[in-house]
Amino acid sequence: MHPMLNIAVRAARNAGDLIAKAYEQFDNVEVEQKGLNDFVTNLDKEAEQAIIYTIRKSYPDHSIIAEESGELEGADTDHQWVIDPLDGTTNFIKGIPHFAVSIALLVKGKIEQAVVYDPIRNELFTASRGAGAQLNGYRLRASNNKDINGAILATGFPFKQKHNLETYLSIFASLFADAGDMRRAGSAALDLAYVAAGRADGYFELGLKPWDFAAGELIAKEAGAIVTDFAGNHNYVKTGNLVAGNPKVVKTMLAKIRPHLTDAIR
Ligand code: IPD
Ligand code: CA
Ligand code: CA
Ligand code: CA
Repeated sequence: MHPMLNIAVRAARNAGDLIAKAYEQFDNVEVEQKGLNDFVTNLDKEAEQAIIYTIRKSYPDHSIIAEESGELEGADTDHQWVIDPLDGTTNFIKGIPHFAVSIALLVKGKIEQAVVYDPIRNELFTASRGAGAQLNGYRLRASNNKDINGAILATGFPFKQKHNLETYLSIFASLFADAGDMRRAGSAALDLAYVAAGRADGYFELGLKPWDFAAGELIAKEAGAIVTDFAGNHNYVKTGNLVAGNPKVVKTMLAKIRPHLTDAIR
């Protein structure tokens, strides 16, 4: 395992164990509201501090961007860690056992290492660029569905920003008309990891942040999936509007999305 992936795994396991323990007892969990339907707990913050501590101990100069701390620039700006300490905070707060720690390392802007860790199921999804994606050490492959017919599509609802709701719903309707079924599980990082594992044939969501998808993106791609924006381009890095899945499923998804594209989501 690449030494930097090794550090990411150590950090993700530490943070995940912290979160899982608090989840079981669910005492001393403090909830704060950040915005519309947007919550953060002391566990998000403590897990993030634990991750930053582990990374900084090995790589004191590296730069970090983390959901709760923002940008922490280091002397070395070529190496940037992108951290979501707890992806699925709403599930965590409601006692739904589906959330993850997500850590990616970008080198000169390219995602090189990635970990998504589900501490409840003890599932560790990892990837190194060019070396494939693994779940607990076993190689992952995206599904081989030929198109959207019968496909299981994961999605996330735009619950924190409802201005694109109409567009989202029309895209949902158009995809659902042919899909086998839909899943809204509540963690974008796990949605992408599930695409990598072939558990979901495709995935789409609007308005994600880099920490939601950086690790999952590499894991999905290394498993043979593709990741694009809603128009089939690379703008998701900026917009956070993502479509992912095995190449054939994504192709049919994009064809069905096309008539519903608006400038706001392109
Ligand atoms: C959220 C989850 C959710 C997605 C939201 C994200 P958070 O992340 O990934 O599935 O629908 O867009 O913001 O806030 O729980 O880390
Ligand atoms: Ca959050
Ligand atoms: Ca997140
Ligand atoms: Ca989070």
